[in-house]
Amino acid sequence: MEIKVTQGNVVEHATPALVVNLFEGVKVPGGATGAVDQALGGLISRLIESGEITGGAGEITVLHTAAITSDSTEPIAAERVLVAGLGKSDGFDYDSIRTVSAQVARKLKSLKVKNGATIVHGAGIGGLDPAVSAEAIAEGSILGLYRFDKYKSTSNSSNGNGGNDSGLEVLELVEMDAAKMKALEKGVARGTSYAIGTNLARDLVNEPPNVLSPTELAARATAMSKAAKLDIKILEEAECRKLGMGSYLSVAAGSKEPPKFIYISYSGDAKRDQNNIWLIGKGITFDSGGLSLKPPGSMVTMKGDMGGGAAVIGAMQAIAALKPKINVHVVCAATENMPSGSATRPGDVVQAMNGKYIEVENTDAEGRLTLADAICYARNNGAARIVDVATLTGAVSVALGKGHMGAFSNNDEFYTTFEKASADQGEPVWRLPLVSVTKQQNRSNIADLKNTGGRGAGAITAAHFIHEFAKDTPWVHLDTAAFNMADEVSGVNVQGATGAATRLLVRLVENLAG
Ligand code: BES
Ligand code: MN
Ligand code: ZN
Repeated sequence: MEIKVTQGNVVEHATPALVVNLFEGVKVPGGATGAVDQALGGLISRLIESGEITGGAGEITVLHTAAITSDSTEPIAAERVLVAGLGKSDGFDYDSIRTVSAQVARKLKSLKVKNGATIVHGAGIGGLDPAVSAEAIAEGSILGLYRFDKYKSTSNSSNGNGGNDSGLEVLELVEMDAAKMKALEKGVARGTSYAIGTNLARDLVNEPPNVLSPTELAARATAMSKAAKLDIKILEEAECRKLGMGSYLSVAAGSKEPPKFIYISYSGDAKRDQNNIWLIGKGITFDSGGLSLKPPGSMVTMKGDMGGGAAVIGAMQAIAALKPKINVHVVCAATENMPSGSATRPGDVVQAMNGKYIEVENTDAEGRLTLADAICYARNNGAARIVDVATLTGAVSVALGKGHMGAFSNNDEFYTTFEKASADQGEPVWRLPLVSVTKQQNRSNIADLKNTGGRGAGAITAAHFIHEFAKDTPWVHLDTAAFNMADEVSGVNVQGATGAATRLLVRLVENLAG
C-alpha cells in the first residue's frame, strides 16, 4: 500500500471513499467532517440526530453519496463517505488514531475499495500534532492490514514484504493547508518505518518452526541487515563455546539444528561509543520444553518463542531507516529447545560466560539460560544500557493477563524513559518488583543459582535470574509472553503474531537519542 499526502479540499476531492470522523457526543460536526456534512445537505447531522451515528469508538458508517443524486450535480466528489467513530474526546490520543486507522483500513479493504482518502484525525478538537497524527495513521493502517497467508495455496498475495497488501492500494491523507504538507509527509514516512519493522517481526513469528530454524532466522536477519546497511555477525557454536557460553549452548544441546548467535549493530553516534543501547531478544525458534517436555496444548504455539528476537530484529530495521543519533546493538541467541539423547537433563550444572554455575532444574526454563550469555556478551562489549525482550513465562499472563506486558528494572531513571516510550506507542507495560524474598527462590544447594524459583512469583523469579547477569548495568526486562500472539483481530493487531514490543523499542531508542 502506498500512503500519499495530498493538498486539497475534502469536499472537492475525487476518490472512491473519503474517511471523515466524529467524536462521541458531538451533535453538529465541525471542521472537515462539518464541511462534508454541509455538502451532503446535513445528512450526517440527521443520522446523528436519529441515533444511527454515535461517534462511538469502532463505529464506521458507510454513506453511498454517489447514489444520492442521479443527475450530474454530485453533492460531493467522493463516491462514498465513511464516518469513523473516534469515541470520547477525553483521553483521545495517538494510539486511538492508530486503532481507528487500522479499523478503517480493514473496512476499506472489505468494501473492495482500492483507493481511499482520509482527513488527518485528531488535528481538530483532538488538539494533536498533525505530523504525529499522520505518523499514527500510516502506522495503524499498515499494521491493521497485515496478513500472513503465504501457505494458503489459493492466495495470490505475496508475503514477507512488510505486510504490503494488495487489498488497499493507495491511501491519501487530504489536507487543506499547503504549509503542512512537508511535516505530514515526514510523519507518514516515520509511521511506515515503525509498521514495516513490526510486520517483519510478525512474519518471523508466524513462520512455522520447520521453516524458521535458527539458521533461517540468521539468514533473514542477514538479509535485513544487508538491505539496511547494518553490520551483522553470526557467531557459530564453536565460537560461542570458546567465549564460554555454556548456559546458552546447554539449551541447544538437544537439537539437530545448530544454534546461531545473531549480533547486529547500528552506528548512529560513531564518535561516542558509550552512547549505546543493547536490545536483546529471546530467540527460541521452537520450545518443546526439552526433557521437561511441555504438554501438547502448551507446545502448539511455541514457534513464537523467538518473538523477542523478532522484535529486536524488526526494531533494528526501523532504526536503520529513522537514523537516530545513538549506537544500537541487537543480540538474538537463537536455538531450538528439544529433547534427545544429547539434551541437557534436569539436574545438570552448566557454566555461563561470566563463570557463574547454574543448576538446570527445569529444561523448560530455557529462555533465561540463553539470555544470561547474551547479556554477558553485551556487558563484555561495553553495553551502557540493556533491554531484554522475551516470551519468558506463562506466569506473567497469570499476573497481568493481556492488560500489560510485565516489566522489570534495576534503574528507576532508565525505567522512566522506558515507560514513556511505552505510553507514546500504546504498548502497555507494568513494572513488577524485584525484592530479596523472591530473589532467594533461585538459590541452589549445589551451584551459584538454579534456573527456576518454585511455584510463586514465576515472572519475577525469572527476572531475578536475568538480573544476576545484567548486574548494575541500567537494564529493563520485558516479558511479552501474553502479548506475542493475538487470538483475534483487535485494533492494530490481526490474528497471529503481533510484533509486540517492536514499536516500543524503536520509540525508546528515538527518545534516548533526543
Ligand atoms: N516459552 C515459555 C513461556 C511461554 C508460555 C511463552 C506461554 C508464551 C506463552 C518458557 O520457556 C517456559 O516454558 N516457561 C516456563 C518456566 C517454568 C518452567 C519455570 C513456564 O512459564 O511454565
Ligand atoms: Mn520453555
Ligand atoms: Zn521458552
